[in-house]
Amino acid sequence: MHRTALEMFGGLAKSYERTLDLATLVQDRYWKRWIADNAALSRGDRVLDIGAGTCLLEERLEGSGCEVMGLDLTEEMLSAGRDKKLGCVKLLVRGDAEYLPFREEAFDVVVSCYVPKYVELVAFAHEIARVLKDGGKVALYDFVRPGGPWLAVLALYLHGGMRIAGFLLSLAGNSAATTFRNLPRIVEGATWQERLPKLLARTGVRTVKNLKLTGGVVGAYSGKKSGESLT
Ligand SMILES: C[S@@+](CC[C@H](N)C(=O)[O-])C[C@H]1O[C@@H](n2cnc3c(N)ncnc32)[C@H](O)[C@@H]1O
Repeated sequence: MHRTALEMFGGLAKSYERTLDLATLVQDRYWKRWIADNAALSRGDRVLDIGAGTCLLEERLEGSGCEVMGLDLTEEMLSAGRDKKLGCVKLLVRGDAEYLPFREEAFDVVVSCYVPKYVELVAFAHEIARVLKDGGKVALYDFVRPGGPWLAVLALYLHGGMRIAGFLLSLAGNSAATTFRNLPRIVEGATWQERLPKLLARTGVRTVKNLKLTGGVVGAYSGKKSGESLT
């Protein structure tokens, strides 16, 4: 998965934000607002964004009075984020969500967009809980395997719309083609929304919300570290 992520995002950094708007039919803006609202940030909070990419979420957090550290596997994505020179961003580091290079209880809030489907969930849950302070909050979202009453529409979007977009982009030699070709397979296997809340609960992070947005295109989770593990 690490290799797939690097292949998908290494060459995509420059066109990532346009590609994201296309792939999510501009819904990403609403999902990022969900994160900003549900992370319930306070001035002075130290925030970790796992898989920060080009710092789209950080653009929304400008003026919030928070200090954000962003981590990502792909240097090209981080470099696009650095070019934005956002005041709230204190540090952008290359690193792996499964081995966070931060000390215990370093953050008040952990946020993450589109990462759970790429990572080993036991390590991801453990690392989130480890770097969160007691009472700290986590808010994240990602694509989930299509299901529910909108299954037919979601499957058409995933296997029809995205594949056709991938094919057309590859004909045009566009770097986003790899993303659209890989995403349907990865999203079909995305079962994180059932597993991650249980794994987080074992490490002392209890679920506040775990729901689906936009008819089930993405799952959105928020939680709070209580310090008591539920093993
Ligand atoms: C779809 S992009 C999302 C970027 C940003 N969070 C956003 O919402 O625009 C997914 C990001 O996750 C990063 N990523 C994937 N696996 C990762 C891992 N194991 N550790 C850290 N970052 C990872 C990729 O490099 C990529 O930048």
